[in-house]
Amino acid sequence: MSASEKEMAQLMGNKNRKQFLQKVVDLIPKAATRIFDIGCGVGLLRWLIVEQIPQTSVIGMDMSWYMLTHQVITPNMNYLSLVQGIAPNIPFKENSLDVVVAILFLSEVLCFSGKKGFFDTIKQVKRVLKDGGLLVVLDHQSPGEGNIEIRLSNSMIKKLRQFQTLFQVRDIEFEVLPNSWTRITLCDLYDFLTKIWSFGTALEDEEMQESHTPFTGEELSKILTQKGFSVNFVDGVVEFEDYLRGYKIGYQIKGTLPNRFLIVSAKI
Ligand SMILES: C[S@@+](CC[C@H](N)C(=O)[O-])C[C@H]1O[C@@H](n2cnc3c(N)ncnc32)[C@H](O)[C@@H]1O
Repeated sequence: MSASEKEMAQLMGNKNRKQFLQKVVDLIPKAATRIFDIGCGVGLLRWLIVEQIPQTSVIGMDMSWYMLTHQVITPNMNYLSLVQGIAPNIPFKENSLDVVVAILFLSEVLCFSGKKGFFDTIKQVKRVLKDGGLLVVLDHQSPGEGNIEIRLSNSMIKKLRQFQTLFQVRDIEFEVLPNSWTRITLCDLYDFLTKIWSFGTALEDEEMQESHTPFTGEELSKILTQKGFSVNFVDGVVEFEDYLRGYKIGYQIKGTLPNRFLIVSAKI
């Protein structure tokens, strides 16, 4: 177990996340009997599903043994419905599952296994889903292209400079204007603000190697359509302003910020 796994497990087990995970549960048909939570982490979503759709079985897969052995469990859940595995390898027969849920997972695969691992994973998800089966994705979303002007405190601007030296995915560029207004691309701002919590933690290094702006809803929908899915729902969850308030980040902004996360469901 690494310190970063322990810290990630604590974050993923935070009960405040139930609020937005509920949006995923709401999209799952109540008649679903076999649900697969790919990259299940500590299983907070499995818990919510089992509580609300009791006749279903939810199988969780994760590559991390630490996550699998630190599940948040209810009496209805047991370790038999967990499997250790690394996507794109999915250890199920084709045409065997009603629903696959992928929460904050595909962006990680894209980042750490590259485009091939990402596309192969989508292909494997399609293989194991039954005809008419459903994929529900909740993930980080790209706010799209373009710049925005935001007024941050001097200490936040200092942190932004720190982020500029730490972030390893791409060069971060911004311009400080009079009165602490800062001009920055939307993507750079999103990666900064959604990773600020990791500064100085055991997760800092991992977070600096991963982007939180993997795709827009439109881009993910296009990819899923190309891979043979029929997208039937695209939305955002968690107002970005609420996210910033949660971290007590004060700001003024010229323009609007898209939601913190993306939620997409698609049938085959
Ligand atoms: C950000 S966490 C999200 C966990 C969980 N879905 C949630 O939202 O609470 C991503 C999880 O995916 C797992 N993971 C990342 N890449 C994976 C892969 N290729 N195969 C299996 N698990 C993977 C990690 O170990 C981690 O537990």
